[in-house]
Parts: sequence; C-alpha cells; structure tokens
Amino acid sequence: MENWQGAHGALTRKTILKGGGIMAKISIRNLTKRYGDMTALNNVSLEIDNGEFLVLLGPSGCGKTTLLRCLAGLETPDNGEIIIGDEVIFSSKEKIMLPPGKRNLGMVFQSYALWPHMTVRDNVKFGLDVIKTPKEASDRQLDEVLAKLGMGDLSERYPSELSGGQQQRVALARLLATKPPVFLMDEPLSNLDARLRMDMRVELKRFQSDAGATTVYVTHDQTEAMTMSTRVVVMKNGEIQQVSPPAELYKQPQNTFVADFIGMPRINLIEMQGDGQIFSNGDITIDFGWKPGIKNVVLGARPEDLKISSNPKAHGETYRVMAILPNGPETIVQLQRGKTVIIGRIGHDIIFEKNQEVKVTYTQTSLNVYDADTQNLISPINNI
Ligand SMILES: Nc1ncnc2c1ncn2[C@@H]1O[C@H](COP(=O)(O)OP(=O)(O)OP(=O)(O)O)[C@@H](O)[C@H]1O
Ligand SMILES: [Mg+2]
Repeated sequence: MENWQGAHGALTRKTILKGGGIMAKISIRNLTKRYGDMTALNNVSLEIDNGEFLVLLGPSGCGKTTLLRCLAGLETPDNGEIIIGDEVIFSSKEKIMLPPGKRNLGMVFQSYALWPHMTVRDNVKFGLDVIKTPKEASDRQLDEVLAKLGMGDLSERYPSELSGGQQQRVALARLLATKPPVFLMDEPLSNLDARLRMDMRVELKRFQSDAGATTVYVTHDQTEAMTMSTRVVVMKNGEIQQVSPPAELYKQPQNTFVADFIGMPRINLIEMQGDGQIFSNGDITIDFGWKPGIKNVVLGARPEDLKISSNPKAHGETYRVMAILPNGPETIVQLQRGKTVIIGRIGHDIIFEKNQEVKVTYTQTSLNVYDADTQNLISPINNI
C-alpha cells in the first residue's frame, strides 16, 4: 500500500465550484471489496447525479456501510474506480487512493464520534474551524443548524449529558454546518424516536436540497428510503439489485427479492402454473390478460391490487377472512382460499368480520409476473 498516492491536485472547494454551482457527480465503477473470503461489494457500478439524494437500502450485511466507507476513503477497495466531479479519488489500476480529508465530503456514521471534552456547540464548531470558516459566518451557521435540529437549548452540554438521539443530532449538526458538496450518511436518524425521526427527515431533506449537496444515505428503513430519496439502490449480498426512483421501485420491482423487500404490508408472491394467459396454483385462478410465454411464474400482487367485496353476488373467487388488522386510515386483512393465504388492504370504513366470505378479483394492470426459475420480472402487465 506504501506506493499508493493521492491524485494530483486534491479535490478542493475551488475545483468543485464551477460556474457558481457545486459539481459533485459521483461515478462508482466496478467496485469490489473483500474481507478475507467474504465479498462485501461485488463489482458495484453506480452513477450518482449532482445534487441527488441517493439512498442505499438493503438487509443487514448487504454492504451498505462498506460502500459508504469506500466513498469516504475509510476502506481501500480491492478493485474499481471512484470519481467525484472530475477527480479520480480512487483507482485500483492507477493506484490512486485519496485520503478521507482530501475528498471534501461530510460524513455521519452509524457510530457518531463526538469529542467528549467539548460541548455540543464546540463539537459542531470544530467542523467549521476545520474548514476555516470566518468567525461571524461560523457563529451564524452554528446557531441556525442547532436551532433547526432542536438542539439550541442544549448547546452548552457535554456529549455524556445527552441521550443517544441527541448525540446523533449533534453529529448531524456538525456535518450540516460545514455544507460540504457531498453528504455521506449512515443511518443518521436510527437512534431517534418515531416522531422526532419524522421531523428530522423533513429538516434533513430541506437542508440537503437547500445546500444542493449530492447525498448518499444508508438506511434499512424503507419508509425513509421512499420518502427522502430521488433514487433508491436496493442491495443484496454486496450486489445491486435495482436502482430506481421510489415510485418505480414500488410499482415495478425487477425481481422477487426487491418486490418482497419493498412495501408494507409485504407483496403477495404466489407461484402459479399456466399455459397461455390463465394461471392457477390449484386454489386461485387468475387471467393475466396477456401471455407471459412460460409455464411457471411467480405472481406479484400488492395488497391494494386485490379488489375485495362482501357482496356475495359480486364477481370473483370466494375467500375467507382470517384476520382483520385496523391500521389508521386503512385496514389490513388476511384472506384464505384453499391453502393459499394472501394479504389485502381495504379502507378503514369497510367492516369485515372474521370467517366472513368475500369475493376477490385482482387489478390486472398492476400485477407483476416473474419467471419462477430466474425470479426476474418478465414484463409488467401495464407495459403490454
Ligand atoms: N472490517 C470487516 N472485517 C470483516 N468483515 C466485514 C468488515 N466490515 C464489514 N464486514 C462484512 O461485510 C459485509 C457487509 O457489511 P456492511 O457493514 O457493509 O453491511 P450493512 O449493509 O451496512 O449492514 P447493517 O444494515 O447491519 O449496517 C457483512 O457481511 C460484514 O460482516
Ligand atoms: Mg451498516
């Protein structure tokens, strides 16, 4: 590693500011990171637009933090290239590895390291002093950030006198105050209670868009991913499964893993066989309205794709109501036909009773059909 060196001309504020705007497009090319035999990142390529709010989402251990640490310069990948703006900050081929301090990034990580001997105010100020902000500007930025994060009254306390959630907000304040062109955040709201978390999402989103900072944000909370991002990257076992804007991710998951991971309650995934456009699993039969061209499929039906009627004369197959779970504006219902159990969603004002029989049809145009062998999306019906 000794012969590795920083790229010529560190990534400075000046090189990033072009035409008055911050240029911080990030290109990640063929990035691989191994820990011994374990491949934490496998050939990951990703283009992140200037000013984008990109969320890395996936189950525990899928490589989210590793990818963020590679961007930050805290890990040396085994292979690949990372370019920010027009500077190569990492290249295995050219043996370039810019140290974290030269990458001009702001980071908040899962474990937020605060200085124990400094007050909240001094911890945040520390970030501003590092980038040599004039005192007046720094005082103003500091007050503004602390107030926005609801920490104004706690500014003279020491980290040991704060709760976990408050400490997390100090770490966040330290990042936001410095207004770096790139924000890297690893579950920055994970220690906050549900209400504060919601408020902070709004603040953070506003901060990010005001600053125009390119943001890479790690979470395993899908609500956070869906509400805050411009695009979501779903990862599994160190590989990217899908990169899409949130609405598209929800409507057209590219494989059954993504379909299953996104959405609460979960999507109904039903293995079915057929020859033509009518498919059945022995219990339920659905006319897809188009021909997938294969015999074994997995049907993806969101709970809201089920049209459920308590009218015995209504069109559709008969299911039995197994469970009723009221959830604010909606009610989640579990339905059974034969051995098949599925989840549906109805309005809170519709009253069903346990064991009641209901008629069910499916919204053909929003169903997705997957190849049972590859688990990949064949073609959504609404594209036909
Ligand atoms: N320093 C390390 N040494 C060995 N293995 C590591 C190291 N860091 C991470 N790993 C492994 O790499 C894989 C990816 O870890 P990573 O921390 O990136 O996951 P993650 O997606 O951030 O998960 P979480 O949601 O739990 O934070 C895991 O299997 C983890 O055990
Ligand atoms: Mg992690």
